[in-house]
Amino acid sequence: MVIELFDYDAELSRYNVRLRAVAGVGPADRVLDIGCGTGQTTRDAARSAPSGSALGVDVSRPMVDRARALGAEEGIRNVSFERADAQVHPFAPEGFTLGLSRFGTMFFTDPVAAFTNIGRALRPGARLVQLVWQAYHRQEWSTAIRQALAADRMAPAGHGHGAFSLADPTVTAGVLTAAGFTAVEITEVREPIYYGPAAADARDALFELRMVQELVAGLDAAATARALDRLLVMLDAHDTGAGVWFDSSAWLVTARRGPAGKASVGSCLPHAGNRLTLGRGGHPVADVEKRGDDHPEPSPPGEAQPRHVQQHVDQRREREEHDSEQRPDPGVEGRVDQRRPGDPDDEQAEPREDPTDDRE
Ligand SMILES: C[S@@+](CC[C@H](N)C(=O)[O-])C[C@H]1O[C@@H](n2cnc3c(N)ncnc32)[C@H](O)[C@@H]1O
Repeated sequence: MVIELFDYDAELSRYNVRLRAVAGVGPADRVLDIGCGTGQTTRDAARSAPSGSALGVDVSRPMVDRARALGAEEGIRNVSFERADAQVHPFAPEGFTLGLSRFGTMFFTDPVAAFTNIGRALRPGARLVQLVWQAYHRQEWSTAIRQALAADRMAPAGHGHGAFSLADPTVTAGVLTAAGFTAVEITEVREPIYYGPAAADARDALFELRMVQELVAGLDAAATARALDRLLVMLDAHDTGAGVWFDSSAWLVTARRGPAGKASVGSCLPHAGNRLTLGRGGHPVADVEKRGDDHPEPSPPGEAQPRHVQQHVDQRREREEHDSEQRPDPGVEGRVDQRRPGDPDDEQAEPREDPTDDRE
């Protein structure tokens, strides 16, 4: 039986380029890829580390099976995959020189414990490079899908469970610091994501996502049909002529495993050496060293925000206003940072295979 798996490689092709550039896997690196899915990032890392190796771990058996099959098909000898919960798996201590993750670290039930465990697997000083989603309301895909499917009723509670758990940079920096990481840097990355060559393919692909399944769960047949019609119309409106694309916003999070024995589980305050940077132009968003709130939840627009999150939002708004005033031709920057494949100057459109997601 062929299990349909959500095609993250197609969805995240633009982000993959960004992750690879920052990860800079070296020829002798021993790479740990966390929540590796079907293993594209692990295989890429293994290819870049001919005298090293790459291990991908994922809790999903079908994902790991597919990753192994693809690794074998591509004849990559220094890549391996294990079905494992990265939060608790007993990795070889200090067995890796680089940790990587493309949207695979947002689903831990105890993030500090998970990153502490991952830290133990890394050599002191080793880098951890991750991509994580920004808040759900910063995601065109999330808001558009939710609106299409839940337009005539209240959306189910929760804004995507784990998928946005690291959306607040202050929280992320705090978690990593508490887990013994230092030199945390968090930078905004905005890239379009791809759901299929046409609206119907995108709809079918999206049905592999738990978020989408949950939005239609409990609807009767007529309401489901209406929701699907709205989804199709919405997806069609996002068909660029070169596939269905949505804007999205992520954080690229880099950190170093601190010296052995320095994990300070329990504290969620960022390390004094941590730095947050934001996006294009490098406008600083936050001075995390001055903040004290623990684990604020990212809030939807219009809801009351904790003071420092509000500051963050205000600074972002100022930055965006400043950017738009400075921009001679709004189209130019759009093409540079947020090209959609199908735009005349686009070179990176990639095909997709088959689609699953536990995106929640
Ligand atoms: C959004 S997908 C990304 C997959 C892959 N990194 C990619 O970019 O193609 C998140 C992945 O994290 C995995 N995952 C979630 N929790 C995990 C955990 N505790 N340990 C290992 N993998 C986990 C899921 O099974 C899923 O494959």
